[in-house]
Order: sequence, then C-alpha cells, then structure tokens
Amino acid sequence: MTKTPEKFSKAQIYLHWIVVALVAFQYLLSDGISSLWEKRMDNLIPNEPSFNPHVLVGVIILLLALWRLFLRFKHGVPALPASENKIASLVAKATHILFYVLLIGMPFSGAGAWFLGIEQLADLHALASNIFLALIIIHILAALLHHFVLKTNVLRRIVGMK
Ligand code: HEM
Ligand code: HEM
Repeated sequence: MTKTPEKFSKAQIYLHWIVVALVAFQYLLSDGISSLWEKRMDNLIPNEPSFNPHVLVGVIILLLALWRLFLRFKHGVPALPASENKIASLVAKATHILFYVLLIGMPFSGAGAWFLGIEQLADLHALASNIFLALIIIHILAALLHHFVLKTNVLRRIVGMK
C-alpha cells in the first residue's frame, strides 16, 4: 500500500459496516442453506442448486470486498497509532489480510459446493466460517481494547468520528 491518509474515506466506513451487517446475516440465517445442503447430500432432494438468500448475500459480500480492496489501494488506510507495539500491529495487519482472504475465498468455496456439488468445498466453507468467527472475535476485542484501555482513536475513526 502506498498512501496513509489521516482517516478512512466515507465509502470505506460505510462499506465496513454494511459488510459487518451482511456477514452477521450469513451467520444468523445459515440454517436454511445448511439443511438444504444436507438434504442434497443425503439424496432427499435433487442434488442441484436452487435460489437461496445466503447465495445472493454471499455474492454481494464478494463484490463489496473487491470494492473495499480497490479503495484500500486507491485511497490507502490510516496508519496504526505510533504507540502500538510491533507484535500488535503485525497481528492487526495479518487479521485484516486474512479478512480479505476469507471475504473473497468464502463465496468461492460456497459457490463450488452449491453450484458444482463438491462436498470437500462445503467442508472447507464450514471450516473457514469457524476461522472467520474466531477472527471477528479477536478483531472486536482489539477494537474495544484500543478504545477503552489504550484510549486511541482507532474505533472512533472506523465509525467516522475523529
Ligand atoms: C462471505 C460470504 C459467506 C459467509 C460468511 C458464509 C457463511 C456460512 C456459514 C456460517 C455457514 C454455516 C456453516 C456450518 O453449518 O458450519 C454456511 C454454509 C453454507 N454456505 Fe455460506 N457463506 C458465505 C457465502 C456463500 C456463498 C456465496 C455460497 C454459495 C454460492 C455459500 C454456500 C453455502 C453452503 C452450500 C453452505 C452449506 C454447506 C456447509 O455447511 O458448509 N456461502 N455459510
Ligand atoms: C464481519 C465483521 C468484520 C469484518 C470482516 C471487519 C473487517 C475489517 C477490516 C478488513 C478492516 C481494515 C480496514 C479496511 O480494510 O477497511 C477493519 C477495520 C476496523 N474494524 Fe472491523 N470488521 C468487522 C467487524 C468489526 C466490528 C464489530 C468492530 C467494532 C467493534 C470493528 C472495528 C474495526 C476498527 C476499530 C477498525 C479500524 C482499524 C484501524 O484503524 O486500523 N470491526 N475491519
């Protein structure tokens, strides 16, 4: 990345929170697609894809993640506070990179399972969903730590406050 602006752009902030809401939808309402998938694998229904909101929302997440990546390269992201220790800032960077890998990789593994019927990709998708959840928890704890303990502006700048 080349640029380190003072703050996130409005688009970056909106996209962060829209994606959070869509990812929450994927977790809270994944029972439908999981039970359909199990029925397909158990030959209780024809083994072919049908329309499902999980698929639509997953594809939207993929497109928004690509847009966010584009904005990261075009606009950059603010630097972490100078007070941040080296290991913590490495963990933060690694988490953000992994988030993009998952936001882009999960729709592909899901699509490979749903449209091509590849069982191993469904297993990979389920495994990735657990890793993703663990990362989200770490990410939220880090944001709260920054705000309440380290008293930096890291949480404020992703909600659009200085
Ligand atoms: C970033 C986007 C996505 C997220 C966060 C996500 C998340 C999830 C979660 C949490 C589950 C339940 C896993 C479990 O039962 O252990 C699931 C299942 C599933 N998802 Fe997704 N999904 C995404 C995108 C997609 C897309 C685009 C498709 C299809 C085109 C898809 C197809 C499936 C299928 C077939 C299942 C049932 C099989 C399984 O349990 O692995 N997903 N997804
Ligand atoms: C699905 C859940 C989430 C994902 C995938 C996610 C992803 C990301 C990513 C990739 C970044 C790096 C900036 C960028 O590229 O736009 C970021 C920044 C940030 N996120 Fe999240 N986030 C999630 C949920 C949350 C939640 C719930 C909070 C608050 C409690 C939060 C707080 C932050 C903060 C404070 C930053 C700014 C870090 C910095 O300034 O370097 N995130 N998030």
